[in-house]
Amino acid sequence: MHDKAAAILRLFRAGAGYTSGEYLSRELCVSRTAVWKHISALRKNGYRIEAVPSRGYRLVSSPDIIDPHEVAAVRGDTVIGRELEYVKVSLSTNADAFRLAEQGAAEGTVVLADSQTGGKGRRGRVWSSPAGVNLYCSVLLRPVIMPNEAPQLTFLSAVAVARAIEQTTTLIPEIKWPNDLLVSGKKVAGLLNEMSAETDGINFVILGIGVNLNMTADQFPNDLRHPATSLFLESGIRVVRSQFTGTMLRELDHLYADFRAYGFGPVREEWQRRCNARGRQVLVSDSGTECTGGRFIGIDSDGALLLQSDDDKQHRITCGDVRVI
Ligand code: BTN
Repeated sequence: MHDKAAAILRLFRAGAGYTSGEYLSRELCVSRTAVWKHISALRKNGYRIEAVPSRGYRLVSSPDIIDPHEVAAVRGDTVIGRELEYVKVSLSTNADAFRLAEQGAAEGTVVLADSQTGGKGRRGRVWSSPAGVNLYCSVLLRPVIMPNEAPQLTFLSAVAVARAIEQTTTLIPEIKWPNDLLVSGKKVAGLLNEMSAETDGINFVILGIGVNLNMTADQFPNDLRHPATSLFLESGIRVVRSQFTGTMLRELDHLYADFRAYGFGPVREEWQRRCNARGRQVLVSDSGTECTGGRFIGIDSDGALLLQSDDDKQHRITCGDVRVI
């Protein structure tokens, strides 16, 4: 898609109702004929744009493709996503982003895919990644922090996804430690952070973000360990993938700017507020064996879960499955 076409989409979204051809031509510094040509090209790509004489154009609907220009139109002028790579079929967007990072790609580079053939989950699991329905996204960051602080960045992406769910649906997401997004107690998104580091600093971090947007029940694998769902299954409304992606990247950009300015504090506070265990008693099990119980206190600066047991002892949990009682 042409940059001017992306700018037209941005102007449509910025205004309510109709946008006149004259206004578009003035804002874009192109002729009315050129505006009309870009509108025709957008229509050919599946955008429904209504034209009413003496009122102008109105964007009626967008196609559900992940279009980098469409994502850029929603995301606005942000550092995260200023370079957007779209791959129709990827083995894993995390692997793509890792390779780009090693080749010197800029901070904020994002890889998006329509499907993944080897989507990676945490602890070596497979992340089911069918085509045409979900978000598979990896973000390259080059933060100036120590390697033990890198988990903090996964908490940023959890909060960004939660905000995007709230802004694009009527659903209320919750975060489950360490970094699952739940809707109605079922997993709707997962995050996988990977990094390249030396002992004294980080070369780069890849934030891998998978969100089940429009997946239907028959598209989930049968052998899931925990109940999973999609935003569509929970709300009955299809999510426009480019819009969700742009919203999530914009929120991640805001969070990363705050993180660089003020550190982990504000993100930690929002993450704890959104956590399904806040103020509750939880049980942690590892490999099916229940090992620790206590009241949720919060998260530590390295991402560990902090619990307080009945005998007032504080526990740091670094792995395991958390169940809210
Ligand atoms: C988990 O909950 O186990 C983490 C899942 C992370 C999946 C995303 S999809 C985009 C990115 N590419 C991958 O291969 N994995 C992450």
